[in-house]
Amino acid sequence: MEAVKAPRGTRDILGDESWKWAYVTQMCRNVADDYGYREVHLPIFEHTELFCRGVGETTDVVEKEMYTFTDKGGRSITLRPELTASMVRSYLENEMNKGTQPAKLWSIGPMFRYERPQKGRYRQFVQLDIEALGAQDAFVDLEVIDFSMELYRRLGLSNLQVVLNSVGCPKCRPVYRKALQEYLRPRFDELCDSCKSRFDRNPLRILDCKSPICKEITEGAPSVMDHLCDECKEHFEQLQRGLDKIGAVVKHDKRLVRGLDYYTKTAYEILSGDLGSQNAVCGGGRYDNLAEAIGGPHVPGVGFASGIERVILTMEAQGCSFGRKPENKVYVVAAEPDARLDAMSLMRTLRMNRISADMDYMGRAMKGQMKTAGASAEYACILGMSEVERGVVTLKDLKEGVQEELTVEQIVNKLK
Ligand code: HAM
Repeated sequence: MEAVKAPRGTRDILGDESWKWAYVTQMCRNVADDYGYREVHLPIFEHTELFCRGVGETTDVVEKEMYTFTDKGGRSITLRPELTASMVRSYLENEMNKGTQPAKLWSIGPMFRYERPQKGRYRQFVQLDIEALGAQDAFVDLEVIDFSMELYRRLGLSNLQVVLNSVGCPKCRPVYRKALQEYLRPRFDELCDSCKSRFDRNPLRILDCKSPICKEITEGAPSVMDHLCDECKEHFEQLQRGLDKIGAVVKHDKRLVRGLDYYTKTAYEILSGDLGSQNAVCGGGRYDNLAEAIGGPHVPGVGFASGIERVILTMEAQGCSFGRKPENKVYVVAAEPDARLDAMSLMRTLRMNRISADMDYMGRAMKGQMKTAGASAEYACILGMSEVERGVVTLKDLKEGVQEELTVEQIVNKLK
């Protein structure tokens, strides 16, 4: 019988990689603290309806990619494909509107999408998500974009491009939608099959289709920028003034429409030049009507989410530092079996003094223990019966190859 394997599109993050995750997560936490965002932990599954109404029935995420099942109580449940809808649900359910506005929340955790796996695209992946809820101000959009740029700056990332667009609002988008349909109609038959079906339901998505023919057709399409209402236009200009003020270089891209239906006004992504086709390290924007779509009052919001796998892939490709790889400081070696009890006790004393230490549990002879020590620690503490009787330990510096006899107290003081 073949051994059971992990499902396609999932991955095990093991010890030689997980320390990098700890580093990146800690950096997210530091930036969130500095920008005044508070961490929340939300359920990994939600009522399916939340995503159907929040993310939108015509999106790829809802149409094709959700992990949905009926639970034993007969409810339709979905493993979250993203966090924004859950964040807004939580804001409403916990009456965060009664606290200081905007409510600034962040979270990190696994998301689930049934997509075709490839480099940088998984069926279970981890997102850092930040959301600011309750404010219209374009400077909150600015703060969100700045948060993502500051995070990547601290992680040492380079070769990134910020792309920005506005997708308008329910007031101006229908006018643009119509103009776009009018422009595309004469060449409708040439569109790819997915775009044909998007034509009536979600024509803006045709703008970011990757098929060469659709790309060519939309080349001269009308720009959403020329169709924005005064409010959306002013919002975009105010955001741009803020970006100029902080010296952020962004590229305007009229094709950037994002794959989720809830966006209004600001839409943005940060692309990595070192990732291949799945090159978005983060994406986000404003979603002023999402709360209403899921049955709440009007609550404007803006945020972004960043795929941590893609951040780490980019950092590795660019040789960024992940801080210090955790390593045992000391390996305690029992030179003979009778010294094991004292070796164990010494190891425990070191650990209680916050000096990381380990010892052999596999019955290895001294030579084997020294080999493990050399491969895994900076120092060996060698203990035979003669040392035990004299109340000393041989401390060997494994890098320098020098050794000396010290008391336990001296060792603790030296290594702490
Ligand atoms: P999204 O663009 O669908 O937006 O995802 C955000 C980021 O998650 C992407 O830029 C990418 O880094 C990562 N990501 C998405 N799908 C995958 C995957 N299959 N494998 C690996 N990484 C992936 C959202 O999810 C919105 N909720 C963002 C947002 C927050 N908008 C406003 N607030």
